[in-house]
Amino acid sequence: MAKSISKNVTIIFVVFLISFLVVAESQKFSRNLSQRSLGLKKEKLSHFRFYFHDIVSGPNATAIRIVEATRTNRTAATGFGDITMIDNPLTIGPERTSRLVGRAQGIYTSASLNEMGLLMAMNYVFVEGKYNGSTLSILGRNPVMSAVREMPIVGGSGLFRFSRGYALARTHSFNMSNGDAVVEFNVYVLHY
Ligand SMILES: *[C@@H]1O[C@H](CO)[C@@H](O)[C@H](O)[C@H]1NC(C)=O
Ligand SMILES: *[C@@H]1O[C@H](CO)[C@@H](O)[C@H](O)[C@H]1NC(C)=O
Ligand SMILES: *[C@@H]1O[C@H](CO)[C@@H](O)[C@H](O)[C@H]1NC(C)=O
Ligand SMILES: *[C@@H]1O[C@H](CO)[C@@H](O)[C@H](O)[C@H]1NC(C)=O
Ligand SMILES: *[C@@H]1O[C@H](CO)[C@@H](O)[C@H](O)[C@H]1NC(C)=O
Repeated sequence: MAKSISKNVTIIFVVFLISFLVVAESQKFSRNLSQRSLGLKKEKLSHFRFYFHDIVSGPNATAIRIVEATRTNRTAATGFGDITMIDNPLTIGPERTSRLVGRAQGIYTSASLNEMGLLMAMNYVFVEGKYNGSTLSILGRNPVMSAVREMPIVGGSGLFRFSRGYALARTHSFNMSNGDAVVEFNVYVLHY
């Protein structure tokens, strides 16, 4: 009798000790990993080229002004503070009907008092081939009147985990009568 009680006590103690160790393990805040354990082998450099359709007019607009800031004499020319939400198509060629490779989702806002300088905060969401579902995040300045604008790629998801790079934007066409624009993007990205 006394023997079996002491056996039970031992078992309870062992179970308690194990659960304590498991809890201690699961509560560890950080650990060191090898890159290989996440499947990260060699970093590579890729170049992507596509066309961004900023459609502001008509019933199928994909760029919609969501905030119009109070105008002052100082900001009238640049629309300082205006915010546009976009879900713009990205296509393989400059025609709107050419193959869709992704979308640019996010916002741009006029962030410069004295010239046309936009703050771009957007994600490219790709649908093409093996990149389907992977994203790249862009956060940068877009002085739209310059011939070439450079914006940093600050990260990504899916095939673009741990990515970094830059995007070069060139206006391909701008329709003066309705404000629609087609912008060529060349994107250079380091990823695994
Ligand atoms: C991770 O590795 C560094 C350098 O080798 C070491 O100083 C650090 O203690 C390790 N951290 C953990 C949580 O093991
Ligand atoms: C808008 O989209 C609809 C549905 O896709 C299409 O039928 C229509 O022709 C488009 N309108 C314009 C002006 O592009
Ligand atoms: C804004 O500009 C208008 C026309 O140029 C002028 O009459 C007005 O005084 C200006 N207002 C301010 C606050 O500077
Ligand atoms: C991309 O992935 C979605 C969801 O996983 C799927 O429905 C769609 O058909 C795929 N598109 C292409 C072009 O592979
Ligand atoms: C520019 O916009 C106008 C008005 O919507 C349209 O009639 C015209 O076809 C557009 N031009 C081009 C080159 O798309």
